[in-house]
Amino acid sequence: MSNAAVPASQASDRTDAPLHVAIIMDGNGRWAAARGLPRAEGHRRGVEALRRVVRAAHELGIHHLTIFSFSSENWSRPATEIGDLFGLLRRFIRNDLATLHRDGVRVRVIGERAGLDADICSLLTEAEELTRNNTRLNLIVAFNYGSRQEIARAAQRLAQEAADGKRDPSSINADALGQYLDAPDIPDPDLIIRTSGEQRLSNFLMWQAAYSELVFVPMHWPDFDKAALESAIAEYARRERRFGGLAAKTGS
Ligand code: IPE
Ligand code: IPE
Ligand code: MG
Repeated sequence: MSNAAVPASQASDRTDAPLHVAIIMDGNGRWAAARGLPRAEGHRRGVEALRRVVRAAHELGIHHLTIFSFSSENWSRPATEIGDLFGLLRRFIRNDLATLHRDGVRVRVIGERAGLDADICSLLTEAEELTRNNTRLNLIVAFNYGSRQEIARAAQRLAQEAADGKRDPSSINADALGQYLDAPDIPDPDLIIRTSGEQRLSNFLMWQAAYSELVFVPMHWPDFDKAALESAIAEYARRERRFGGLAAKTGS
């Protein structure tokens, strides 16, 4: 994602229209537990919330929607739950890809592919290939994603180029590193939403979040809908983004 010294999203006219919204979809397990249901049911209902939010995103003028669907650290969960989550991803792509494509959604995937099952990798690649020319909405799926790991992968590539004599170490700066992140052409998120009341990033987009507005929502992800997205965007619109400069009224 963009790492320019002036964030690409700063170019948008007004703060009330976030071009890039990123969501930490949290609270599926607690949603289920509160209803005496298995955690897997919470995850299944979480996919329904995701469908609603993808539909709502374009209607609300969002160009890029990044969703955190499985973190590098989620491997520490029981194997059965990991199986449930991977099963849901498989089903989501198999069932929803045609609809996403018809609706003009371009699917991108960020995160580590190495070590994933071959069938998952080919589904992810199929989704990216089929939708690559779509322009209505970029849906960026963070799967097997960790921000530290992403930054470390970028640093490793830069170090390799320097070791091979193809790069002067003095050219390694924030711009250069940002170019080697997983989706360097996508502008930084304007707004990051986390559901379930937790107030942390959990290794999500830490580089790209430098000037993102953070909105924490108490509701669990399966309850999230268009109205909740609109209210997070309304909260965002009340914020004043300064990017290290002066407030617009002070500066003019
Ligand atoms: C989010 O819900 C889904 C993933 C992390 C994959 P959780 O499964 O984290 O639900 P809680 O936080 O335990 O309620
Ligand atoms: C973050 O949620 C990961 C995803 C939403 C995919 P977690 O539930 O894994 O985060 P922690 O463990 O509460 O920080
Ligand atoms: Mg959680």
